[in-house]
Amino acid sequence: MIDTHCHLDLRQFDADREAVIERAAAAGVWAIINPAIDLASCRRALALADAHPGVYAAVGVHPNDCGDFSEETVGALRELAQHPKVVAIGEIGLDYYWERVPHDRQQRALRSQLALAAELGLPVILHARNAPAPDAPSCNADLLHEIEQWAQRTPRATSGIVGVWHAFSGALAEAQRAYAAGLVLGLGGPVTFQNARRLHALTPQLRLDRLLLETDAPYLAPHPYRGQRNEPAYVPLIAQSLARLFGTSVDNVVQETEATTHRCFGIGGLLPGAA
Ligand code: NI
Repeated sequence: MIDTHCHLDLRQFDADREAVIERAAAAGVWAIINPAIDLASCRRALALADAHPGVYAAVGVHPNDCGDFSEETVGALRELAQHPKVVAIGEIGLDYYWERVPHDRQQRALRSQLALAAELGLPVILHARNAPAPDAPSCNADLLHEIEQWAQRTPRATSGIVGVWHAFSGALAEAQRAYAAGLVLGLGGPVTFQNARRLHALTPQLRLDRLLLETDAPYLAPHPYRGQRNEPAYVPLIAQSLARLFGTSVDNVVQETEATTHRCFGIGGLLPGAA
């Protein structure tokens, strides 16, 4: 299994990072993608990728950290992205929940980083979090608008996949628009929550061949660890919940998601026994 979204570089792992990587491997999670949130995080993720064969990095600036995003930031990201273990531009997107940066600034930083991904031929790792008020502007709608504009003028990779909408929690119609734009969806801890009725109803209507496994660790720990620190060793719990929701085997979920991970990021994708 591959954890396609784990913030391994954050301080929550400072005390036991090596043990976390070892527990992941022991649980069958042989690769981890560490998306960055700002330039310092990019450098930490690349240092981890240098030190660990199974760790890969995405470089980018998170919407909550893009307050001082500039052309200089783009230049720095372009240089960092030359590292051979950079598999994506991310984590980028829009966040109307925390409102740390005005929407128009978030949108400009997103557009610049989408353009950089197209220039470098890299997929993107997307974040969208809606405001709590139901009548607030929809972050998902704005993200889809940006992605559709970008996808129209960007030549599609041979895989047909341009990136992942991580921690997807939108509606079915939004998932379908995301597929049409060339995105796959990342699902993690929330699918295991016992009271996640809406997500449990939605998930079997999603395409199993357009899903990625992710933890978003240290956040969003799956049941029965909800509320505690999350870690990549918990990916099997997510695969088990998805297998139940789709009415299929864990092996099938692992094979499908790993094939999609390979199409998206160019890592993994071997069928069992093919190694
Ligand atoms: Ni994240």
